[in-house]
Amino acid sequence: MSTVPTDILGTIRAHGAIPRHIAIIMDGNGRWAQARDLPRPAGHQAGMAAVREVVEGGLAAGVEVLTLFAFSQENWRRPQAEIDALMHLLGDYIARETAELTSNSVQVHFLGDLDRLSPSARTAVQFLEEATAEGGALNLNLCVSYGARAEIVRAAQRLAAEVAGGKRTIESLDEKALARELYTAPWPDPDLLIRTSGEYRLSNFLLWQLAYAEFYVTPVLWPDFSRHHLYEAIRDYQQRDRRFGRVTV
Ligand code: FPP
Repeated sequence: MSTVPTDILGTIRAHGAIPRHIAIIMDGNGRWAQARDLPRPAGHQAGMAAVREVVEGGLAAGVEVLTLFAFSQENWRRPQAEIDALMHLLGDYIARETAELTSNSVQVHFLGDLDRLSPSARTAVQFLEEATAEGGALNLNLCVSYGARAEIVRAAQRLAAEVAGGKRTIESLDEKALARELYTAPWPDPDLLIRTSGEYRLSNFLLWQLAYAEFYVTPVLWPDFSRHHLYEAIRDYQQRDRRFGRVTV
C-alpha cells in the first residue's frame, strides 16, 4: 500500500460531499507503455496497480460505488494478442485480488456482454462475484465487453418483451422503467466521471447514467493514477455547483 495523503483526504472529508458513485474511464495505458518502449500489454499490467489505488482510496474516502471501464465492446476489434493479454490480466486480477477485496468488504460486479468472454474468463468472473457477494463497504463495478448503446438497446428489448407478453402497458414505460433494466439498476447514477490521459470523450460509456455527472479530465496516464489523483478529482468535484437544470439563488 502506498502512503495515504492524509492532508488531502482530511480536506475532502471536512468538505463533506464525497461523491457516492464515481465512474472512471481508465485511459492511456498504451501511451504509458509506448513512452517506455514497452509493448502495450505492459501498460495494461501497470494499470492494475492504479485499479488497486482507486479501490483502496475510494474505500478510505467512503465512496459507495466505483464503476471502471476495463474493456469496451469496441476493444474486441484490437489485435488478438492485446485482447488475449487483457483477458489474461483479468484472470490474474481475480486470482490475486479476491482475498484482499473480500477482506476489505468490496462487492464486485461485472457489467457488460459477458457471453462474449471465453468460458474460463466467465467462470473466473462468476467466481469473483460470488466470493465478494457479502461485501458491504464498496461496490466495485468492472465494465467488461461493455458498450452503453448496446446496454440501452438491451433494456429497450427487455421492456418491449414485457409489453408484447402483456406484462406491462406502453404507458408504464418511463425513465425509471428503462433505468431499472440497465446493468447499473441497483445503484444511483455516477456523481463524478473521471477520464485519464487528457481525452475529452465518453467513448460509449454509461451514456444514460452520466446525464448529470460532473466531468473531470486529467492528463495523468492511467498507470500513473494514484489515490492522491482520485482525491484531487473529488476536491475539484466538491467545488462544483450542481444545478441539475435548475437555477441557484
Ligand atoms: C485504455 O488504454 C485501457 C484499456 C483498454 C484497458 C484497461 C485495463 C486495465 C486498467 C487493466 C485491467 C483491469 C482490470 C480490472 C482487470 P489504451 O490502451 O486505450 O491506451 P492508449 O489510449 O494510450 O492507447
